[in-house]
Amino acid sequence: MLKIAVMGHGVVGSGVLEVFYKNRASMQRKANKEMDIKYVLDLRDFPGLPYSDKFIKDFELIVNDPEINIVVEVMGGLNPAFTYVKRCLEAGKSVVTSNKELVAAKGAELLKIANDHDVNFFFEASVGGGIPIIRPLHACLVANEIDEIAGILNGTTNFILTKMIREQMTFSDALALAQKLGYAERNPAADVEGHDACRKICILASLAFGKHVYPDEVYTDGITKLTLEDVEYAKNWGGVIKLIGRAKRMPNGKVSVMVSPAFISSDSQLSSVDDVFNAVLVRGDATGDVVFYGKGAGKLPTASAVVADVVDAAKAEHSSTSLRWENNPQHNTAVNYLDT
Ligand code: HSE
Repeated sequence: MLKIAVMGHGVVGSGVLEVFYKNRASMQRKANKEMDIKYVLDLRDFPGLPYSDKFIKDFELIVNDPEINIVVEVMGGLNPAFTYVKRCLEAGKSVVTSNKELVAAKGAELLKIANDHDVNFFFEASVGGGIPIIRPLHACLVANEIDEIAGILNGTTNFILTKMIREQMTFSDALALAQKLGYAERNPAADVEGHDACRKICILASLAFGKHVYPDEVYTDGITKLTLEDVEYAKNWGGVIKLIGRAKRMPNGKVSVMVSPAFISSDSQLSSVDDVFNAVLVRGDATGDVVFYGKGAGKLPTASAVVADVVDAAKAEHSSTSLRWENNPQHNTAVNYLDT
């Protein structure tokens, strides 16, 4: 029996338990492995839950338990997530995470540790919630040179912009609604100032172009300065405003990465991506444009990607050795032009 520990019982963590126990029988059949969740790590108390006997508050129980094969990190934030994930990998446990802040800052380092210890480090849920995008990039599209990735990568800001465009709702009312629905980050500044989208385009760019792209080197502008007048203006010009994360290979071979609001003409596929939906357009030199679309935030869509990674880690078929990029010295420039 394969034993799993889940670190964090917030929106995504509780979704992971829900999806896991709802679909456990079919997942076990597909993985050809018996699996169960042994621990749920959270400092808070959750009395009355059906699995309340699994709750623990001490991380050492997980890392020192030889029965635990797979650890799910859904706590968010850089610390202590980085220390915990690093220690679990070094202890020979595969780790699955939805934590984009962690992967954007430390992905190259953690992948190397995982490879050195012959375990997996998977992070499908870190970009695009329930949309498969990490695995397609490093597997199905591996025969391509990627020329460009452009996407609506943050559900909260897309939800807010949709409410402003379609219902003339004010920015603050729409943000309050997004928070109530569980889409926004704990600190929604990360959403509305573009940092969440920036982390996600950095992960995709690192994977597609092979070198670590640091979020603080990427020009990032959010949607806080946009008004209902801007939205109306775009409409009169036959389009909409969307927050776009873009990584593009330039004619000189370098890659430019940035996040900013952009005018999207109504004949673009991205213009009709509304509410909490995300879309990522990948332009490969063999495939041409491929668009990935689905719910980019929310409890169950994100949990779906996390649990899928757990099943892959359980099967141990999709080794994360194919998921790698080089560590890259940080340049501290405002706009990242990555040498490839
Ligand atoms: N706050 C994020 C979003 C959650 O709105 O897209 C999913 O990463």
